[in-house]
Amino acid sequence: MNGIGFNLCAERKKLYTNFLPGYLENIFVNAPIGIFTTNLERIITSANQIAAKLHGCDHGYQLNGKIFPDFICNHRFLLEKLQLVINSTLNKADVDYEINTANEVKTIRLVCTLLRDEKYAPIGLLNMCEDITKEKFLVEQVRNYTHNLEHMVQEKTEELKNANLQLMHSEKLRMLGNLVVSVAHEMGNPLCSLEYLLADVKESLQDNKLKQSIDLCRSEIERMGRLLYRLRELYRPSETRKSLININQLLEDILQINRLYLANNYVLVEKYFFPDMPAVFVFPDQIKQVFMNLIINAVDSMANGGCLKIYTRLNGKSIIVEVADSGIGIPKENIDNIFKSFFTTKNNSNGLGLGLSVSSQIINAHGGKIWVESEVNRGTTFFISLPI
Ligand SMILES: Nc1ncnc2c1ncn2[C@@H]1O[C@H](COP(=O)(O)OP(=O)(O)O)[C@@H](O)[C@H]1O
Ligand SMILES: [Mg+2]
Repeated sequence: MNGIGFNLCAERKKLYTNFLPGYLENIFVNAPIGIFTTNLERIITSANQIAAKLHGCDHGYQLNGKIFPDFICNHRFLLEKLQLVINSTLNKADVDYEINTANEVKTIRLVCTLLRDEKYAPIGLLNMCEDITKEKFLVEQVRNYTHNLEHMVQEKTEELKNANLQLMHSEKLRMLGNLVVSVAHEMGNPLCSLEYLLADVKESLQDNKLKQSIDLCRSEIERMGRLLYRLRELYRPSETRKSLININQLLEDILQINRLYLANNYVLVEKYFFPDMPAVFVFPDQIKQVFMNLIINAVDSMANGGCLKIYTRLNGKSIIVEVADSGIGIPKENIDNIFKSFFTTKNNSNGLGLGLSVSSQIINAHGGKIWVESEVNRGTTFFISLPI
């Protein structure tokens, strides 16, 4: 046994002398795990065939005389651990290391303990090693799966959170809408009375300056009235039934209704309607509301008049309407905000910042899309697609 570096204490020696000669050598050779020993200078003194194969040799004796782990790349951490065992700081070292053989990279798990002689003096290291490449690969795969799963759960949670937020947001908007409609309604009557009263007061006045002030008051009241009208229109409860409509006809109607409004604001209208538009199944009042909002915005953007072009066309299974103005355009930094509730750049009472947010909710609820392209000082085009 000494030849292969095994030294047993006296007690154990007595115990084993009864075994057949070669019994321990047999265990060493046939163990289903790599075993090798070194002296205290880490020179390999014996190795079985599995240990040899794991380290790129065919036979155990080919490892003899090599210094362990100097022939392994990146062996520093391994060396440090072995040194701790040699110094008796550690009883046992467990280390995983990689070894490059001709056609693969193997991961080896090593368990190393101190070898002692009969007098318990350290004489070397006993090392057991096994190939854990497959195990490591599986662990890695499980880790990847877990990671992906975590990622998916995170994504879904995020989606759910957003959907929840959206729901709360629409619920808030709905409640706000109800409030706005009732407030607007309640305020309408006193405003009307005020207007009439001021007209009477003006009749009875002699002083022209005072008369001018009254006119100013009346125009402000009128402006408030317009604002209330817009508010009511935004949140007008819509019809409960969808119907099949021709979008060209609907646009014609809206343009007809707004004929004077457009003309008074020096807006020229050009229509480019695709002749055979298939019908769309929609809540007509809601869709009208959307185009009203777009037209009002377009007019607002062309303070000195301009041109409003409306196109309709087919795109696969959708219809597309483009509303293009030659107005001031939208700066890049605002583009992402215009569809958010209460975003407005209008500093008079014309701007509520709700038109586009309500419009996009309506279009989304119809399974369509609304998007925008704009260039500052050139104009803005809103696109709306609706499924046929
Ligand atoms: N056609 C347009 N041209 C330029 N800016 C526009 C146009 N349409 C919308 N915007 C910008 O988007 C903002 C939000 O529009 P909207 O939701 O209708 O609210 P509001 O018109 O009450 O401000 C507007 O304040 C304006 O800055
Ligand atoms: Mg608007």
